[in-house]
Amino acid sequence: MAEFNKDGLGNILFVAVAVCLVCSVFVSAANVSLKPQQQRNKELDQKENILRAAGLLEAGKSVGNDGRGVDELFADFTVKAVDLDTGRYLTDFDTKGYDGVRMAKDPAHSRDLAEEEDTATIGRRENVSLVYVMEGEHGLEKLVLPVRGYGLWGTLYGYLAIDGDLETVSGLGFYDQKETPGLGGEVDNPKWKAKWPGVKLFDASGNPVVRLVKSPSPEGSPGKVHEVDALSGASFTSRGVQNLVNFWTGELGFGPFIANLKSAS
Ligand SMILES: Cc1cc2nc3c(=O)[nH]c(=O)nc-3n(C[C@H](O)[C@H](O)[C@H](O)COP(=O)(O)O)c2cc1C
Repeated sequence: MAEFNKDGLGNILFVAVAVCLVCSVFVSAANVSLKPQQQRNKELDQKENILRAAGLLEAGKSVGNDGRGVDELFADFTVKAVDLDTGRYLTDFDTKGYDGVRMAKDPAHSRDLAEEEDTATIGRRENVSLVYVMEGEHGLEKLVLPVRGYGLWGTLYGYLAIDGDLETVSGLGFYDQKETPGLGGEVDNPKWKAKWPGVKLFDASGNPVVRLVKSPSPEGSPGKVHEVDALSGASFTSRGVQNLVNFWTGELGFGPFIANLKSAS
């Protein structure tokens, strides 16, 4: 009978394949079993970002000032889908899992922006976007819109929250950006973010006119209400933020939707 050689090539290969198989079973099982938790964390993260932009959840906290948790706070919002061309709600639309950024990559569900249209440098714009609507006894209280645009090193993704008057910024926050920490990365600095609430988005004709300025206008001057201090040493990021806010509140963004809401109120 042939003698078993544990150092032989056959045995080494057998052990290697067996170890690989066992490990891949473990990794696959972990991947499958953790999927629901990963999905839940992703949803929670998105809700936190929306609540933060709306000023309902402070940075670093997972409970609101009234003690309510993220899910409870987010329950005050209704998630709706908007056709960005008509500015109308889509009633028969499954908002669960819809990802506008992903849809913008699909030519069947997005429009290619001509160079002169693409002021936020996003290339394509999805046809349908989700919006987050908070209504109270007296009508609309807050509207949160997903926004994005190019800074210096990449695209900044975030949410712009608007007050019920559909004119005034309630807050702006980014959940993903590639700007340099300490320079453009200061978009995430709570002190800078605190400069946004109260900023007026539109001029008298309804055109988006937010400006990020190095030298603020004197107190009381007409354009002052549209101004936010630019980030120091980060002109490109500042310009990118200015452009993306004006793009998404403009004609090719949520402009028609905001106009429809205004005329309905
Ligand atoms: C390593 C490095 C990283 C930079 N990161 C940024 C950035 O994230 N955002 C930005 O606008 N400018 C950034 N800049 C600076 C720009 O190149 C440019 O000098 C600056 O935007 C000019 O802004 P200022 O007119 O406010 O000085 C960076 C420069 C260097 C050298």
